Amino acid sequence: MITRMSGTPRVLSGIQPTAGSFQLGNYLGAVRNWVSLQEGNDAFYMVVDLHAITVEQDPAELRTNIALAYAQIIAAGVDPSVSTLFVQSHVPEHTQLGWVMQCQTGFGEASRMTQFKDKSARGGSDHASVGLFTYPILQVADILVYQADGVPVGEDQRQHVELTRDLAQRFNTRYGQTFTVPKPLIVKETAKIFDLQDPSSKMSKSLPNGAVFLLDDPQVITKRIKSAVTDSESEVRFDPAAKPGVSNLLTILATFTDRDVETVAASYHGLGYGALKADTAEAVVAFAAPYAARVRELTGDPAELHRLMATGAAKARAVAAPTLATVYDRLGFVAVGGE
Ligand code: TYM
Repeated sequence: MITRMSGTPRVLSGIQPTAGSFQLGNYLGAVRNWVSLQEGNDAFYMVVDLHAITVEQDPAELRTNIALAYAQIIAAGVDPSVSTLFVQSHVPEHTQLGWVMQCQTGFGEASRMTQFKDKSARGGSDHASVGLFTYPILQVADILVYQADGVPVGEDQRQHVELTRDLAQRFNTRYGQTFTVPKPLIVKETAKIFDLQDPSSKMSKSLPNGAVFLLDDPQVITKRIKSAVTDSESEVRFDPAAKPGVSNLLTILATFTDRDVETVAASYHGLGYGALKADTAEAVVAFAAPYAARVRELTGDPAELHRLMATGAAKARAVAAPTLATVYDRLGFVAVGGE
């Protein structure tokens, strides 16, 4: 059995570098939680470039976006001297364990992953790659290779963490205790931030009209929020089923101002949606403006960014390599030199 020396729980998560800027849902649903989990946990966070190529990417843009994503994680508050912050493709054990885990996964089981269904439906199934189909299994390997206890993500990733649990248990049963079975760490209040133009769907980089991109100019962010779709009433009330647009704005405002959503809602008694939108925009900009400035500063020093990436990759590999070695041994592979 692989045991860890320290009793500190380990958390692991990742984000795709598929757009120049993170959208608000990425931050509120996941990265904000990564920051708080640094304390009391052994934290591993990564830019998942291998996941990004499941859909076509322009190489020059991808290169820029990897650096931008790495810088944004730091700008959001992840300290690379506290957490292990790295780029997925710098650690080859992910793809190596990914193959092993593909061989543990049933075709039907992989077919049930809703993200594949959504994403392939958007691009047309003829264009969906096999990589897009098997990508949840690479995610399984991402998590298991670090023996993570917790995976801080938004609601849309829950199914992938459940698959990780199933495959970890299956492998442990078949080959002996090898993997820690991880739990999803999902913050209920911000698990799903909704699209500003269509509050029935989640905010997503691939639906840019209803998303707020944190690196956009303050004027653009403000305009986006002020034109959010609400409803035909005028009362500000937190009621996600009946008033999804207004409730989404309340969630965003409450989170950025560290208040309870009901308290925020009550403070708009007698005021209209205009006031709520203006205050939400102001709260988002108060976070986004210094965030963008810090990202510019970090990406302005590529040598330092690359140094941080290399340090992160070395720390990550030191954990991932022994897990893979144990897995290969359990499978019956013969080690180089027979050792
Ligand atoms: P990705 O890059 O799509 O999203 C990164 C994180 O942001 C969360 N998120 C949201 N949360 C709330 N509301 C939203 N509207 C919203 N949109 C995005 C996502 O849930 C996610 O936590 N497959 C993953 C990346 C990944 C990963 C991993 C995560 C690869 N390997 C291992 C955890 C562990 C993805 O595509 O996330």
